[in-house]
Amino acid sequence: MCQEKNERKHVSSSLKSGKQEVMRLQATLFVLLQLIFELSSCTQLQVTQGSTLELPCVMFQSDISGAAITWKFQGKDVSPQSTGPVRVKKEGLYLSISPVTSANEGEYVCLVKQDNVEMISSYNIKVAASSEYTIKVSQGSEAYLPCHFPTGGQVSANAVWFRETDAVKKMSLNLDDDSRVDNQRFTLLYPGDSDQTVLIKDTVMEDAGIYHCESAAGQKLSTVHIIVEAAPTPPPFLCKGMSTAWEPCEDVRSRTGEPILQESLTDFSMKLYSFLRESNPSSNLLFSPISISGMFSHLLLGAKGETRKVIERAVCVPHDFHCLHVHMKKLREKLSGSLQMASQIYYNPQMNLTESFTNQSIEFYDAKPTRLLNGSEENTQMINSWVANKTNNKITQLVDSISPSTQLILLNAVSFSGQWKVKFSPGSSNGLFTKLNGDMVKVPLLYHKGYMTAMKYVVELKAQVARFALSGDSSLYVLVPRTYNVDDLQQLEDKMTDEVVLRMIKEIKATTPHAVEVSLPRIKLDVQPNMHIVMKKLGLSSLFEEANLCGLYSEDRLVLDDARHRAFLALTEDGVEAGAATAMGFARSFPSFSAMQPFVMLLWSDQANVPLFIGRVTDP
Ligand SMILES: *[C@@H]1O[C@H](CO)[C@@H](O)[C@H](O)[C@H]1NC(C)=O
Ligand SMILES: *[C@@H]1O[C@H](CO)[C@@H](O)[C@H](O)[C@H]1NC(C)=O
Ligand SMILES: *[C@@H]1O[C@H](CO)[C@@H](O)[C@H](O)[C@H]1NC(C)=O
Ligand SMILES: *[C@@H]1O[C@H](CO)[C@@H](O)[C@H](O)[C@H]1NC(C)=O
Repeated sequence: MCQEKNERKHVSSSLKSGKQEVMRLQATLFVLLQLIFELSSCTQLQVTQGSTLELPCVMFQSDISGAAITWKFQGKDVSPQSTGPVRVKKEGLYLSISPVTSANEGEYVCLVKQDNVEMISSYNIKVAASSEYTIKVSQGSEAYLPCHFPTGGQVSANAVWFRETDAVKKMSLNLDDDSRVDNQRFTLLYPGDSDQTVLIKDTVMEDAGIYHCESAAGQKLSTVHIIVEAAPTPPPFLCKGMSTAWEPCEDVRSRTGEPILQESLTDFSMKLYSFLRESNPSSNLLFSPISISGMFSHLLLGAKGETRKVIERAVCVPHDFHCLHVHMKKLREKLSGSLQMASQIYYNPQMNLTESFTNQSIEFYDAKPTRLLNGSEENTQMINSWVANKTNNKITQLVDSISPSTQLILLNAVSFSGQWKVKFSPGSSNGLFTKLNGDMVKVPLLYHKGYMTAMKYVVELKAQVARFALSGDSSLYVLVPRTYNVDDLQQLEDKMTDEVVLRMIKEIKATTPHAVEVSLPRIKLDVQPNMHIVMKKLGLSSLFEEANLCGLYSEDRLVLDDARHRAFLALTEDGVEAGAATAMGFARSFPSFSAMQPFVMLLWSDQANVPLFIGRVTDP
């Protein structure tokens, strides 16, 4: 039989303390209190240390004169004669605790006996231990800075509030004790009261800091740390002076541009591979770095400010490389015999793209930005057909749906087709491929008894590497670690930096081809790496929140909605379709190369000296 409520006037000071607590912990505590009131009929109170608490014995002003009243604390009687901080008042009608300390935490019960009737009231008191507060407010809202005198008695002088300016200096706050003066942002709410809470109206960022409340005699009462968060409404968007075109390339014929692009592509490719293998430590992997890089450089045409910088950093392009797009275009043309690359940007029909972006997009990427259609289904179909067309129908389903809120979609597709310079024996046989866990699976085989190939054990990589020449001046490099187990594969991948890979390519190119017995699994990979993880690891997650694409669209802020990549690769008797694969075994008495275990592959353009596809096969 516990009390539901207290009379306000009797517990006014404790309610004030309670209010401070609610402010400190904000909504969380509020909910908690509500729950307690609903679930239990016991009165729960949270009190600040130093405050005064008066607990009434009965809820209503019922006539209980002459009744025997006993107060108990934690099951023990409270002596009616006590003169300590806990005192029985008015013959038991109230119990007063002043000042409240942590020793006063616990259960208080008032027992009333009168004419064979018993009444019990009980309270559960919690004491907030510290007078240090951390308060988070958002810009423009109100902040309450709690402070309490330790005793609830007469207050001779208001507390003094200071603001910490640095470790030693303090600045006293200019407080207004008349809240009717509106232009005063700092207000002492209850002058002359033991509650010395200060209210800050219209909090500004500069209000953040540490505040101290002290008694006039210098006793420290509370320390309040205020954190001001930026208002949720973003500042107005301005593209002023940023909707300009990409700078012209001063020296189109310069010999330095091509090696800069080669280097950044290789650098980017190996970085990307290391990110992707981290998130997929043992599955099949395939991606086309040149396609992803092509997509980002297309986006760079319209990127300004910080967005341009993060993209440049992500694709390993120097900031002042104005000839990027000219050389991207040259590269695309150079590779067109074996690799077709296409780019596209779809945009919300409500947007007006800048003319300069549209012009440069056509000039460098052969892509006229296209408006999205009205319906989600129509857009999904439009995008998937574009992809299918540009990948020679190798990828027909890149997206499942396009959200109606989509503002911008970037696409890049590549399609590769290359024939082996030396064909494999026709007719299919099978072979056993050993997976990472040692399990063997039967797979169709590409086999040749005496394939002319450059093969070498590359010490730096601890891998057997073979090069399979393809039409269109490309090669498939297959890297087979020493054994099928995951440690050897990881060791190989750890060492595959851009420099090491470039050295390996050089080394293999200098190796004379010999007749080698070759076994490769005939594979077909179709992999869709998680571009959101990739973007995050490339430092580009901010583009999903806000991208400065003022060069592309200047009327409003933009967020990137989606970025996807899907790669397909098949090894057949004839060659490589749209990707790459093969691998290698270790030296036997007669030279042989077997990729019938997990391996890594690079489809490399020997002509442009850049990687086109990178993959890893663990489960053919
Ligand atoms: C786009 O341009 C057209 C014609 O120039 C104009 O009427 C329209 O208001 C513009 N749209 C936006 C969103 O500014
Ligand atoms: C874009 O191209 C069109 C047609 O070639 C041309 O008339 C226009 O001036 C160009 N605009 C810009 C900003 O370069
Ligand atoms: C697109 O949808 C809007 C509203 O859903 C409609 O008013 C408009 O006529 C539609 N436009 C086209 C081209 O179908
Ligand atoms: C792609 O579209 C073009 C133009 O419509 C067409 O000529 C070509 O045959 C298509 N390619 C494929 C693979 O569908």
